Amino acid sequence: MNILLVGSGGREHALAWKIAQSDLVVRLVAAPGNPGVAALCETRDIKATDVDGLVALAQEIEADLVVVGPEVALEAGLADRLEALEIACFGPTAQAARLESSKAFSKDFAVRNGLPTAAHGTFENAAEAKAFLDRFSTPYVIKADGLAAGKGVVIAETRAEAEAAIDDMLGGRFGQAGARVVIEEFMVGEEASLFALADGKTAVLFGVAQDHKRAFDGDQGPNTGGMGTYSPAPVLTDALVERARRELIAPTVAGLAAEGAPYRGVLYAGLMLTEQGPKLVEYNARFGDPECQVLMLRLDSDIVPYLLCAATGQLAELDPPEWRNDAAICVVLAADGYPDAPKTGSTIKGADQDFGEHVVVFHAGTKQDPDGTLRAAGGRVLNVCARGATLQEARDRAYAAIARIDWPEGFHRADIGWRALKG
Ligand code: AMP
Ligand code: GLY
Repeated sequence: MNILLVGSGGREHALAWKIAQSDLVVRLVAAPGNPGVAALCETRDIKATDVDGLVALAQEIEADLVVVGPEVALEAGLADRLEALEIACFGPTAQAARLESSKAFSKDFAVRNGLPTAAHGTFENAAEAKAFLDRFSTPYVIKADGLAAGKGVVIAETRAEAEAAIDDMLGGRFGQAGARVVIEEFMVGEEASLFALADGKTAVLFGVAQDHKRAFDGDQGPNTGGMGTYSPAPVLTDALVERARRELIAPTVAGLAAEGAPYRGVLYAGLMLTEQGPKLVEYNARFGDPECQVLMLRLDSDIVPYLLCAATGQLAELDPPEWRNDAAICVVLAADGYPDAPKTGSTIKGADQDFGEHVVVFHAGTKQDPDGTLRAAGGRVLNVCARGATLQEARDRAYAAIARIDWPEGFHRADIGWRALKG
């Protein structure tokens, strides 16, 4: 098979790493990829938002399957264009991807389909939005409707802060993404990520993980795209996963099909494990980053048949995927200043040395000079991942590897996995 992989982050390096292990692959091309991906397969310098360029590339390489990493390509309609050309695409159409790209759509969809989630209201008018706050007490949850690169959610500790956030969002801070705001009930519990593949009608569970969203140790500092993950997540027991499958995943796939927007790709449910059971915080239309990295380390089955059958409506023909009976961890190395103003350009030494069979380093925001020097080129730069018989063993291996990477201008959290290890 010829496969085109779209994206350039650590998530896509992990996907390339796993796809490249498949005997089914004849040719793997990534666009745009990164230096880590380029060490595994061919890359082309076409951005994830360049739908015309990506469609042309898929045709040029006679792709049997296009695997889409980031949501921006989905929102831009890449899956729709490929569908029209009858090229199999792992990733939903723009309409189905509204589960992620529009919080107002996804909240209304949740209500229509009886999914357990926070009570909410959607507003374009600031006065109405502020009046709706009366229904809740602190902390207030205010969200911009559209994609806002993870910055569109404010958890306000005071009424004044909540009202300021409403004015700020409706005032144009996020452009079109903030033309509507969603105000919702604050849910209490531990967060976890649940993944399922869907082919338009059938859903197959595809792993669990826990992320660390805050920049600094002890869950302090600003929210980020994720500073580290581990899988499995003991807090998300088999019983809770089954309940989430029944109450969330299955009705979501059925609901989208019934509404004429069948969902093909990966459904990433951000869950709050509340006293009343798992509730939906948000859906994403893609693999989590860096959740994908730990899933790929633990997935025993060849991933390609799952990606292909999700794209072609044939998931029911496959056995459930098999997972290694061990633990995996991912620690993100970020550039100083991330997430607000990451300092790029600094030199990284030792990232691509041989760390032994239990450790894999995925590249995210890196670039390589012609002489081979590796440099930071983004906020999240490297993902140091490790496996172990236990999470503690995996964690010790990851931090031992980090100690061998020479990058004074980077930082990482030293406490990834604390929730699962605290007991
Ligand atoms: P989101 O972008 O919707 O995932 O929100 C970002 C983060 O805000 C989530 O990971 C949660 O930690 C928090 N959050 C969002 N919505 C709620 C809610 N209704 N109750 C409590 N926390 C929330
Ligand atoms: N790690 C969180 C996300 O990918 O949205």
